[in-house]
Order: sequence, then structure tokens, then C-alpha cells
Amino acid sequence: MQTITYIVYLIASILFIFGIKRLSSPKTARQGNMLSSLGMLLAVVVTLFDQRVLTFEYIIIGLIIGAAIGALMAVKVPMTGMPQMVGLLNGFGGGASMLVAFAEYYHILNTTGPVIQAATSVTIVLSVLIGAVTFTGSLIAFGKLQGLVTGKVVKYPGQHPLNALLLVAVLVAGVMVILDPSKTDMLIGIGIVSLILGVLLVLPIGGADMPVAISLLNSYSGLAASMTGFVLQNNMLIIAGALVGASGIILTIIMCKGMNRSLMNVVLGGWETAGAGGAAAAGGADAHKGDVKSVDAEEAAMIFDAAQSVIIVPGYGMAVAQAQHAVRDLMNVLESKGINVRFAIHPVAGRMPGHMNVLLAEAQVPYDKLYAMEDINDDFPNTDVVFVVGANDVVNPAARNDPSSPIYGMPILNVDYAKTVIVNKRSLNVGYAGISNELFYYPNTLMYFGDAKEAINKLVNELKEL
Ligand code: TAP
Repeated sequence: MQTITYIVYLIASILFIFGIKRLSSPKTARQGNMLSSLGMLLAVVVTLFDQRVLTFEYIIIGLIIGAAIGALMAVKVPMTGMPQMVGLLNGFGGGASMLVAFAEYYHILNTTGPVIQAATSVTIVLSVLIGAVTFTGSLIAFGKLQGLVTGKVVKYPGQHPLNALLLVAVLVAGVMVILDPSKTDMLIGIGIVSLILGVLLVLPIGGADMPVAISLLNSYSGLAASMTGFVLQNNMLIIAGALVGASGIILTIIMCKGMNRSLMNVVLGGWETAGAGGAAAAGGADAHKGDVKSVDAEEAAMIFDAAQSVIIVPGYGMAVAQAQHAVRDLMNVLESKGINVRFAIHPVAGRMPGHMNVLLAEAQVPYDKLYAMEDINDDFPNTDVVFVVGANDVVNPAARNDPSSPIYGMPILNVDYAKTVIVNKRSLNVGYAGISNELFYYPNTLMYFGDAKEAINKLVNELKEL
């Protein structure tokens, strides 16, 4: 049985690796999801045949409750709520790792007494520490994105020394538990302080950086699971946890690069103006002085009608308005007039990695029309019309031109180089970074105000009549 288990674990691991590989392109992502899910199913089923499973009652009850909650969340949570849902799920993963490590610790104490191999006690301590930090840190991240906890950067005197002190205390206590595994109180103390540490580490991070923090916590939850795998001597858990840990940290680094931030800067919470509590949430208007030129649906339709090439740039506003289907209709009507339509996708447009890709895929926009920033940025000068749909920060030329801007240095889509830019949003309000956008005042920019879904539907109707 043991050999069969190992072979199935090996197959599951290979399925995970191929699954993750396939997730890297929208074309193969569904298949990647299926492969990884199959791997997980195989791993779970073969683990249930483990001799050490004493009773199935609790497992079945857990399966039913978990599956019911999961299915309900999958159906109920809107696409815009996905980052916080991922955050919550990471937290549960971390919490589970912590509890399993505690359970195994007591199990060993009760069966063999307070003699635990050093390797096992090291991984028990790490599981408790990382699992607990991930649990409370993810709950705070969820609360921030859900608006239950302040989205502002929270700073107080002595913050970093306090965190460092708590971390050192946990590590010293960890060494004591490893040297003397009978110190039960000490392990409980590590758990409690780590839970507090999770809150203190995530609370200072501003709302704008929260998706990055969630990705980092995702990586932690993988590490915690991997440690738990060592505790339980379960190779599958070690491998699956390590894959989550590694892919989480890679994603975190990609997001930081897309926002031109250092990981330390995000972790220590530095972008004061950003976040749900920033100017954006307060509805702060663009601070730029000057005139903007605006167009109505009919005028915009005439400009589109005269174009040969159009690039559509979606942003967070498209997600809020759920305008992806209207955008698809716009693409269809423009193409029916022989106009070349492409989409330019900024790596951090929206609020989570791949946000725009997922929405456009849902609306059946073909993948080959979606271009990554580096593949399309040189084409803007040769483009007749760029249509910006609810994007703001990712097209803000201040990132290129204004060294005093908080987003200076962040790579952006160079939409302002196009012949005409039509920007659809409801007002001149700022985006998530809470800063004004000079693009709206450029001579080649026209503002088309209104909720994205409504405005684009009107535009499509006008275009059909031309
Ligand atoms: P934002 O800069 O956040 O701008 C979105 C704009 O959408 C707002 O200015 C808003 O203007 C408009 N909007 C809101 N509701 C709308 C509606 N119903 N119809 C039309 N427009 C609407 O978005 P972006 O350009 O996508 O940039 C993303 C930001 O999030 C960046 O700062 C990025 O660094 C940050 N971020 C992203 C990620 C990931 S992974 N994607 C992670 C962390 C942070 P009005 O209020 O005037 O309509």
C-alpha cells in the first residue's frame, strides 16, 4: 500500500507542476486548473486509505461542511470580491497548518512521551509560527479589503522595534521547545504571540498594497503547509506546500515589479496616500487645474467610426461596472466595420493579477486579442483611437514624467502617444493610488463620462446606426 501511495503522490505532484505551467497562459489555464484539481483529488483519495486514519466520521462531516461553504462562496462572491476571498482561504490554510502541528505535537507527547526528534520539533515550531501569522494576517487583509478594518497605512511609534522584539521572542521560545519538547506552555505561547504578530505585520499595510500582501500570505500558507508535511512525514503535503510557497513568492515579485515597488516597501507599509482609505475612497477629485474636453456617445461613435485601428485599455472601473460584455459588443461592432481592435492589458490593472484577462475571457473576448504591456506599448503612436475603460493609474503619464509622483517609475501603458485617447470613467476622480492624472488634460484626450456599462452600451447603439 505504501508503494502505491508514493506512486500516486508522484503522479499528483507531476499533475500539479504541469497544472501550474498551464495556468501561465489564458489559453491553457482551464486545463491547468483541471489537471491540478485532478492531482489534488488523487492525493486526497489515496491519503484517505492511510492506515493511520482511525475514523471517517469527522472527515466526512468536515468534507460536507467545507464543500458546502466553498460552493456557496464560489457562487455568491462577485468577481470584484475575489482578492479578499483568496485572502480568507489563505488564512484558513495557515490556521489549519497551525492546528495540525499542535495536534501532532500532543499526539507524539501522548504516545512516546516528551522525546521528539529535533527535525520534527523544528518543523512543529515553524508550522505554528508561520501558520498563525498567516491566519491572523490574512484575516486582517480580508477585513481591509472588505472595508471592515481601516484600509489606511497604520503607523505608530515603536512599530518596527515591537515587531522585531516579538519575532525574536518567538524564535527564542522556539529554540527552547526544540531543546526541551515537554515545554507545552512555551509552544502555546509561540502560537499566541505569532497570532498577534500576524495582526501587527498586516495592519500597517495600505489597502492599495493589500493584493500584494495577500499574494505574500499565500506564499506563507504554502510554507506552513510544507512544514506540516515534514511534521506528518507526508511527502505530498511537503511538495504541494513548496509549490504554493514558490509560486506565491514569484507572483508577489511580479506584482511588485508591475507597481515599481520593492517588496520591503510593501511589507513595511509606505505608500501613505494609497489605499481604500485614501483619496480614491474619499471620492477626491483630480487635483489638476485646466480644462478637459468631453464627448457624448454620438461624438465618440463618430470618432470610432473614422478609425482604422483601436486599442481598448480596461481597468478597475470595467470590473466595478461589470462592463466586460458591453466591451465585447463594442469590439464586435467595430470589427464589423473593418476596424482592427486589440486589447492592452497592464499587469496590475484592476485589483488582482489577471483581473482583466478573467473578465474578458468570461465575455468571450478571444485570447489572441489580448496583448501584454510589453508587447503593445510600442504600437500606441500608430493607433488611431485608444479607448480607456475605467483605467486610471495604469495610464497615468506622471509615472513617466513626474519624479515627485508616488507612482514615478511604475511602467505604464503609453496611451497618450496615440492619435486620440477617449477615456471612459464617471468623473475626474482619482484611481487607487489616490493621485491626479494629467492624461485627462492632454490635447489628444477626450473624456467620455458615465458608468462604463451604460456608456459603452450607448456607444454601441450609436455605432450601429452609423
Ligand atoms: P484605478 O487607477 O484604480 O482607477 C479605476 C478608475 O475606475 C477610477 O479612477 C474610477 O474613476 C473608475 N471607475 C470606477 N467605477 C467605474 C464605473 N462604474 N464606470 C467607469 N469607471 C469607473 O484602476 P487601474 O488603472 O486599473 O489601476 C489599478 C490600481 O490598483 C493601480 O494603482 C495598481 O497599482 C493597484 N493595484 C493593483 C493590483 C493588481 S494585482 N491588479 C494589486 C495591487 C494594487 P471614477 O470614479 O471617476 O469613475
